[in-house]
Amino acid sequence: MTQELWSAVDRYICDRLLDEDPALDAALAASDAAGLPPIAVTANQGRMLELLVRIHGARRVLELGTLGGYSTIWLARGLPPDGRLITLEANPHYAEVARANIAAAGHGEMVQMRVGPALETLPVLAGEGASFDLIFIDADKQNYPGYLEWSLKLAHPGTLIVGDNVVRDGAIVADEEDPRSADGVIQGVRRFYELLAAEPRLDATAIQTVGAKGHDGFALALVTS
Ligand code: SAH
Ligand code: DHB
Ligand code: MG
Repeated sequence: MTQELWSAVDRYICDRLLDEDPALDAALAASDAAGLPPIAVTANQGRMLELLVRIHGARRVLELGTLGGYSTIWLARGLPPDGRLITLEANPHYAEVARANIAAAGHGEMVQMRVGPALETLPVLAGEGASFDLIFIDADKQNYPGYLEWSLKLAHPGTLIVGDNVVRDGAIVADEEDPRSADGVIQGVRRFYELLAAEPRLDATAIQTVGAKGHDGFALALVTS
C-alpha cells in the first residue's frame, strides 16, 4: 500500500509539473530494451537535478555513474549552451546505451563520457586540472567515501556535491544484528556520512525521499573553502 501511494503521488507530481519530454522517455525505453536495471532517478528527481544546476549557475558538471544517461540528460538540460558535463561509467555496455541516448537527446557535444572504474578516472581528471561546479555522485555506493575525497580535489569553494541513495530504505540506521549492516553498500554510505561530518570544508545535509523508486535520499554538500 505504501509503495503504491508513493508511486501515485509521484505520478500526480509529474503529470502536473513536468513537460512531456520524448527524449527522456526514449532514453528510459532504450535502457530498458537493452537490459539495463531500472535504477535511474525518477523524473521529478531528475527535474530537481536540472533545477540544482540552474539555481547554482553551474557550467561544469561531473557525474559518477551514468547508467543509460537518464540523469545525465537531466543535468545537461540545466546547463547553458557552453556548459560541459563529464560522466563516468564503468560498464562499457551501459556506456554505449548512454552514448546513444545522450546524442539522441541533443547533448552529444556537451557531454563527455569516460568509460572505466571511476576511482581510476578521477585521478586522470585531477591530472588534467579539471574543476567542477556541481558533482553528482551516483556510482557504486561502496566507493562513496573515495568519491567524496576525489570530489574535494576536483572542487572549488562554492562547488555543490550531490549524493544519491544515501538512505537505502532506512538501512543506514539498521542495528548491528541486521544483516544489512554487514553490507558493503551500507558501510560505504555510513562512511560517506562520517566524512561529510568530519570535513571542515563541507556544509552538508541529507533529505530522505519516498517515491516511485521507494524510500531513499539525497545528500547535499557545499564546498566552503
Ligand atoms: N545516474 C544514473 C544511475 C546510476 S546507477 C541515473 O540516475 O540515471 C549506478 C551506475 O554506476 C551503474 O551504471 C553502474 O554500472 C555504475 N558503476 C558501478 N560501479 C562503478 C565504478 N566503479 N565506476 C564507475 N561507475 C560505476
Ligand atoms: C539502486 C538505485 C540507485 O539510484 C542507484 O544509483 C544504484 C542502485 C538500487 O535501487 O539498487
Ligand atoms: Mg542513484
